[in-house]
Order: sequence, then C-alpha cells, then structure tokens
Amino acid sequence: MSSSEARTRPFRLAVNTGGGDAPGLNAVIRAVVLAGIKNGWEVFGIERGYQGLWEEDGVVPLTAKSVEGLTNVGGTILGTTNRGDPFAWRRTRSDGSVETIDKSNELLESFHRHRFDALIAIGGDGSLRIAAELSELGIPIVGVPKTIDNDLASTQVTFGFRTAVQTATDAIDKLHSTARSHERIMVVELMGRHTGWIALFAGLSGSADAILIPEIPFRTEAVARSIRAKYAREPRYAIVVVAEGARPLGGDPALVGSGNEGDSLRYGGMGERIAQHLSILTSFETRSLVLGHLQRGGVPNAYDRLLALRFGAAAVDLVAQGDFGCMVSLDPPEVLAVPLLEAVEHTKTVPTEGDVVRTARKLGVSFGDEDEPG
Ligand code: F6P
Repeated sequence: MSSSEARTRPFRLAVNTGGGDAPGLNAVIRAVVLAGIKNGWEVFGIERGYQGLWEEDGVVPLTAKSVEGLTNVGGTILGTTNRGDPFAWRRTRSDGSVETIDKSNELLESFHRHRFDALIAIGGDGSLRIAAELSELGIPIVGVPKTIDNDLASTQVTFGFRTAVQTATDAIDKLHSTARSHERIMVVELMGRHTGWIALFAGLSGSADAILIPEIPFRTEAVARSIRAKYAREPRYAIVVVAEGARPLGGDPALVGSGNEGDSLRYGGMGERIAQHLSILTSFETRSLVLGHLQRGGVPNAYDRLLALRFGAAAVDLVAQGDFGCMVSLDPPEVLAVPLLEAVEHTKTVPTEGDVVRTARKLGVSFGDEDEPG
C-alpha cells in the first residue's frame, strides 16, 4: 500500500489453507491471526483453498475470538481442497462432464478488490507451487509448508507428519494383538504418496517385520522368505507395512481413479495386492487393511502444534518485513525463509542408505530387496 494509504487504513492480511488437511493447520491459523492482530492488522480467512477468492462469501474476517481454543483442533476452520488450482480450476457441469477454467485473473481482481496487502498460503507442494506462480503475478505471498507426507525438501520437517506417524504407530501396535493371536500376516497400507516417510518411521517404531517404501522397489518373494524364517523362529506372526506408493522391482505402483479430468489419480491397493501374493507364497493366513485418512485427522501432537505456531508467527514476521515470495522453513534451531520456487523444486524422499533404513536393516526388517542367501 502507498504511505498515505498506510496512515488511513490498517494493513489487511489474508490467510488460506490448501491441499489435504493435516494436524496443525488450525494452530498456524491461530498464530497468524494473533500475531497479525498484535501488529495492528486486520486478518481475513479465504475459504476452500484459493477458491474463496472467486466464490461468493469466500472471505471471512478472523478475530482473536474466532481462533480461540484452536491450537489442538484437527482439520482447518477455513476448509480446503486439492481441486482448487486457480490456473486450472475444474468445474463439474450439470451433465457431469468436467471443464477446466483459468481463474487466476478473477483471483487477482478479487485480491485487489478486497484491498488485501499480503497472503499467507498454508499448503503442501501443490498449493505452494500455485503460491509461487501467484507471487510471479505480483501477489505479496508467504508460504507455510504443511503435509503429513513430509515430502517437502526445503524444511527439515512439516507439521502434521509426526502426528500421522504416531497415529500409524498406534494402529500397528494394535495389529500385533490380532496377528499374534491368530498367527497371521497382517499387511497395513499407509499414506505418503511418492515417499515412504510415514511407513518407515511408523513401521520401525511399531516393530514391523517388513517395510515396503517407494524408494526401495521390492520383490514379494524376498518378503515371503523373511516371514517364513520368522515363523520358523516363532512367534508365528508378521506385520508388513506398505507405503501406498510402494512398487515392485520393475513394476508400477497401484493407483485408483481414472486419471480423467475431474478424477485425479491416487495411490491405493498395493497392500491388498501384496497380502494376496504373500498368502500364496507362504500359505500363512493373511489379512490386509488400509489406514487411510485416519492418518490425517485428529488432535495434533505437542511437537506439531508448536511447529505450526512457530511457522504461523514467523510467516507474519516475513510479511511485516516485506519479505515475499518465500516459505517459512524449519532449519533447527531456527525457523528461516527459503524462496518459494526453491521450496517446491524437489521432492524429499527417504535416503535409502540413511540412518533409519540402516537401523531397520540391523534389526532384521525386510525391505523386500534382500538377496536370497547363497
Ligand atoms: O498428501 C496427503 C495425502 O494424505 C497423501 O498421503 C495421500 O496420497 C493423499 O493425500 C490422499 O488424498 P485424498 O484426500 O484426495 O484422498
């Protein structure tokens, strides 16, 4: 805003949440609102990702009262969508067909009509890529990294990840009871998209016998061999953790959806596929389950709340300094700023020779890539 305008009206900050929900989103919103108000600003929420900017009634004023008690509440009070790309917005027509529309001009007009001075965009790689494009178009924008998948390269960790790992670990702990009582192989499929962070961390913490992740293509025969060896040693049961994006050596990951416009491709089904194969290869009774969206919901743990609050407050600082086109990032012990374009450039995958994988191997966990003993 111009300096004369600055004297006549308060700074107007907008905030939105995009992509899949993650534990901690509301804590970021609370920090943004309280820190913004402390600066003497007005703060507004944009509902349903970026969509609220071109939809009727999609902008709501946020006050200290509207964010009261939010730190430990799962989901996002602003709503979210992973179908809200303003550059390629997919609208379903009344006949069921889908059209793709560029809404970026409407978004820009609405941003200026609301006299917003800056936007804090909380999201994963998709929403932050959009943020980077909007920044190029002149919107003063600061990103906040969110995802349970932990696949953003420019921050040590994203909020939501550790809560998801805890949820998945608790679920695996429970599976031990049934697996052991029934002498079964229990196969559990966990989220993570192209990466195996949740599966690796929860699998190792939950004492899984095999962990299959996208970064290490597997052979089911190798997993079956390690399970047969375990049954021979007793106790006769096994837990197999499968990242949804895992793929067999020389094969493809399992996908659901048609991939046609309006129906995005998602990972899903590899756990059941492996369970069927293991049952045939070992003759042991086998069951599979998909933990699914349980990993995204619920109360954020203390670590994720704290990280979310720190990210929110740091994003407000960057706005106050006029430091736009960047994303807050955890670089312990500090929260720093990295350029948005750099932040979305790479996917952070599990290092296959890293300490956690090495630890698992030393404990006898199979990754399905072990050679047959000679
Ligand atoms: O990115 C978070 C995530 O939960 C992934 O782990 C998963 O593949 C995807 O979102 C599921 O998306 P949706 O909510 O559209 O099913």
